[in-house]
Formats: sequence, structure tokens, C-alpha cells
Amino acid sequence: MYSEKVMDHFQNPRNVGEIEDASGVGTVGNAKCGDIMRIYLDIDENQVIHDCKFKTFGCGAAVATSSMATELVKGKTIQEAMEVTNKAVMDALDGLPPVKVHCSLLAEEAIHAALWDYAEKNHIEIEGLEKPKTDIHEGEEEQEEEY
Ligand code: FES
Repeated sequence: MYSEKVMDHFQNPRNVGEIEDASGVGTVGNAKCGDIMRIYLDIDENQVIHDCKFKTFGCGAAVATSSMATELVKGKTIQEAMEVTNKAVMDALDGLPPVKVHCSLLAEEAIHAALWDYAEKNHIEIEGLEKPKTDIHEGEEEQEEEY
């Protein structure tokens, strides 16, 4: 059912952890499955992501996709990171079963939420970036679902 790469990133996830004083932090959740993903970006003055970490409270595919997503955005500029879509993450993992596609969407949204946070803090606009809908702010995790 799962590719070897998915199993590898699930069993040995890369870049797990937090970044203190991160340039951007994004937390997103999926209301249906209840999984939550948080991505930290460390972005230098040339807008290059030179470190990226994640914490995921979710299913195995969510762990694997966030691990792969962090690997893919590391070393990229913020504009290049916009090309790390859920499809790019899935391709890099040699695919996901259809019921697990939403897990990779969570990874894309978490990157976008972290980039959004960075853009807001630095008063810049990132081309093509929209405010993530499932953005969860610190401390709001316990709130009632609105939908
Ligand atoms: Fe929801 Fe995987 S089952 S993120």
C-alpha cells in the first residue's frame, strides 16, 4: 500500500523538532481527521531557507509528507519553496494511496502558513501565496471546530 520511501520517512523522519526564534512558523490542521502539523522555517537575509523543522501530531502519511516537505524546501529560496506543492511532495515519495492525499495537502499548507508568518513579520509579499485557510494560531488548538 505504501511506497518504500513513505515507509522510510515514516520510520526515520528527517528534521523533527523545533527552531527557536524561527523566521516563520505555520500550524495547520485537518478538521476531519484531527491531525495537526507545524513547520518552522529559518530564513536568512537572502530569503533562502537554510533550516526547516517540523512537528506532526498525525497519521503515518502526515509524518512522511512533512518529513519529505522539510527536505524539499531546505536550501531553497522562499519563491522556490512555493513550488513545493502537495503533488511535488507526493511525487518525491513515489505516491500515496488516494485516501492519504489530504495528508500531503496538510504539508503544503503548513509550508504556506510558515511562509505567510514570515512574510507578515517582514512586511513583504510572496508572489502566489495566499493566507492558509486552516491556519491555527498558538493556543487555539483547543477551540471548538467551526465546521
Ligand atoms: Fe489526516 Fe493523515 S489521516 S493527515
